[in-house]
Amino acid sequence: MIQPRRLQSAAAFDPAADREHAPWSPGNQDELIVMWTRDSLQELIHGRLAGYKFIVVANREPYVHRFVEDRIVYSKPASGMATAVDPIMLASGGVWVGHGSGDADHAVVDEHDCVAVPPEDPRYKLRRVWLTKEDEQGFYLGFSNECLWPMSHITFTRPRFDARDWETYQRVNELFANAVLDEAGDDPSFVFIQDYHFCLLPRLLKNSGRKNLVVAQFWHIPWPNPEVFRVCPWKEEILDGLLGNDLLGFHLRYDCRNFLEAVDRFAESRIDYERSEVVRGGATTRVNAFPISIDFEETNRLAHSPEVEQAMHNWRRQLQLGDRILGAGIERLDYTKGIVERLRGLDSFLSTHLEYVGRLQFVQIAVPSRSHLADYRRIEDEVDRVADEINWKWRQGRWKPITLIKEHHDPVRMVALHRLAHFFIVSSLHDGMNLVAKEFVASRPDGQGVLILSRFTGAIRELEDALPVNPFGTHEIGDAIAAAIAMTPDEQKRRMTRMREVVARNNVYRWGGKILSTLLHFDLPENPATAEALQDSAR
Ligand code: F6P
Repeated sequence: MIQPRRLQSAAAFDPAADREHAPWSPGNQDELIVMWTRDSLQELIHGRLAGYKFIVVANREPYVHRFVEDRIVYSKPASGMATAVDPIMLASGGVWVGHGSGDADHAVVDEHDCVAVPPEDPRYKLRRVWLTKEDEQGFYLGFSNECLWPMSHITFTRPRFDARDWETYQRVNELFANAVLDEAGDDPSFVFIQDYHFCLLPRLLKNSGRKNLVVAQFWHIPWPNPEVFRVCPWKEEILDGLLGNDLLGFHLRYDCRNFLEAVDRFAESRIDYERSEVVRGGATTRVNAFPISIDFEETNRLAHSPEVEQAMHNWRRQLQLGDRILGAGIERLDYTKGIVERLRGLDSFLSTHLEYVGRLQFVQIAVPSRSHLADYRRIEDEVDRVADEINWKWRQGRWKPITLIKEHHDPVRMVALHRLAHFFIVSSLHDGMNLVAKEFVASRPDGQGVLILSRFTGAIRELEDALPVNPFGTHEIGDAIAAAIAMTPDEQKRRMTRMREVVARNNVYRWGGKILSTLLHFDLPENPATAEALQDSAR
């Protein structure tokens, strides 16, 4: 059993305190700010977790293969989780166990259901788990997205508690547990589970009898408050499953507190609030906040690239932008994202600023998602209807205020849109983090552009220079659009520079590094290489 180490006095591994591991620091910033990079994370993993297999489990796979006519192509999914965790895997190597969802996925795997990725420059292994249509219905659409998703987000969408979905959810968690155990073999392994699809997996792994598994999980969405959580018929089982983890991470301390309160009320255990630990059945789960982020460097690099310049040119032509002011929003078409509220905010702005009729263009990219579910079909219809209503109301000649594009775009097109936008709206009604807000900031090396950001995102805690809005009050969005348009270039630069510093420093490598370094303070299962490294780090 793994226990958090209490005797070790060394601070968690952090390049800011350990310059050797963080060779890069941006020239135009405070010399003392030292950054986590892909290399420093790689050094941590290969040095201090040497001898451990690194296994990530996430339902959504990072690369999806599809047939296009007679060719096989691959793409990256519209998933904040996949976008964030892929760079970690590129640094660490190892295995990603995920659901094979593409129609050509079967065609490219080997006899162990594995394929090396990224396909053009393989750095790690993707092991695909196959789900039947019934599995997808009960596990992914049903329990994960009709029960856990609405229960965790405060958007007043009622969760559906279906006993058959719960049964399928249990079975699919077992399916993934078998795939993970197969990948781990007898080797010491660090299993890093992503998200709410796998509440039961940590306990299944710990009950497997393998003593050399370190299990951590990151919960990418908010954790509900106890008043909401208490209505779940399987709350005890969910908590028991999650308390199989050695470490459980959330974006915010607020989520950690909600989780600990749920444990306090519904699970037999002892909670040490000081240390943020739960002891149940003699095993300890550490519960900490680790705000997730993006690969700032990579997005920043892309923003400077000739491909993005070309894509900006293409957008201008496609939108017939001329000298109009451009606003933008990009996300999955989800009822948590506040897309309708944002469009209503735009309407409110035009109603109070008639001088901008004909001079403002708003592009909304809304990638269809979970479309088999009634709540998602409903939100898609509503977004279509409201966009049409507003366009009809304000239309003049060939101009209309909203361009709604319902398709996924590659990173080059998205960064190009970020770069062109005078203002960017993230109006989620509730969101664990919202990485799109950070992507916008990383895409603006010119220091221009204004971020309008919902108070109900995790990102608002870090991006204090955004214009905050309560998306439920659509007039606030209208006022923020007016403030964004009126903001001087100097003020934009001041705000954007500060936000860029925050995202550059709190990048995804720091997120991964903080999680791993927290684990390094535990008594890991016997592994000579790690034991030696731990002794070094304690000296
Ligand atoms: O954390 C929630 C999340 O899993 C994100 O990682 C991601 O952006 C989104 O939901 C994707 O959902 P799905 O896997 O259903 O496409």
